[in-house]
Amino acid sequence: MAPTSRQLLELRDGFQRFLLEYEFGLREIETKISILSDEFQHMHDYNPIEHVNSRVKSFDSIAAKVRRKGLDGGFATVRRHIHDIAGVRITCAFTADVYRLFDLLTAQDDVTVVRVKDYIARPKPSGYQSLHAVVTVPVFLSSGTVHVPVELQFRTVAMDFWASLEHKIYYKYDQAVPARLTAELTEAAGLAAELDARMERLHREIHDAD
Ligand code: GTP
Ligand code: MG
Repeated sequence: MAPTSRQLLELRDGFQRFLLEYEFGLREIETKISILSDEFQHMHDYNPIEHVNSRVKSFDSIAAKVRRKGLDGGFATVRRHIHDIAGVRITCAFTADVYRLFDLLTAQDDVTVVRVKDYIARPKPSGYQSLHAVVTVPVFLSSGTVHVPVELQFRTVAMDFWASLEHKIYYKYDQAVPARLTAELTEAAGLAAELDARMERLHREIHDAD
């Protein structure tokens, strides 16, 4: 039976509200990150964060993921199974900063860690490196408190550089990337990791000399 226009409007409003909660969750996390960043700058005259990007997944991407995962059910099912509707990517200069920031954020009383995937300790076969975490933060609404999941991706500038190029290549070849290219990408990921290690060593040396 076709939905009535009233049902469609209700669906639209429901979806907008659903996304709004993620938008609020994102704001909470962004505030936490910007406070840590400012405090670091003030205390240590050093900012471990190079840049922060955040986004709420589009309707189309959510719909595609719902299909891919074969989910059916309402918003509650989507919330339970899709954890990256709100996502924040935190890019740091050094690997040590990645872990430091992760520790500082996840130690906060109102942040609950749901899942951690450390692709820095264990890179993906492609060479992909980043520290992923799904956390929930409470958002206080007039209707009550909701605990909103947010996916955090922590990485270094070198890891970010690699991941964006790799993403572009996969997009260009529509997943079917020639073997020569994937091999080169994996090798480049190794070089990026080596560069990270070297830069960090240099950074330490300079700091220790102070
Ligand atoms: P998704 O269902 O795709 O979110 O996978 P998952 O739940 O197993 O999460 P996973 O930790 O593997 O990846 C989540 C996100 O990390 C992706 O949406 C990408 O943003 C990023 N990512 C993971 N693997 C790669 C990779 O090989 N290359 C690039 N460029 N990004 C990746
Ligand atoms: Mg994802």
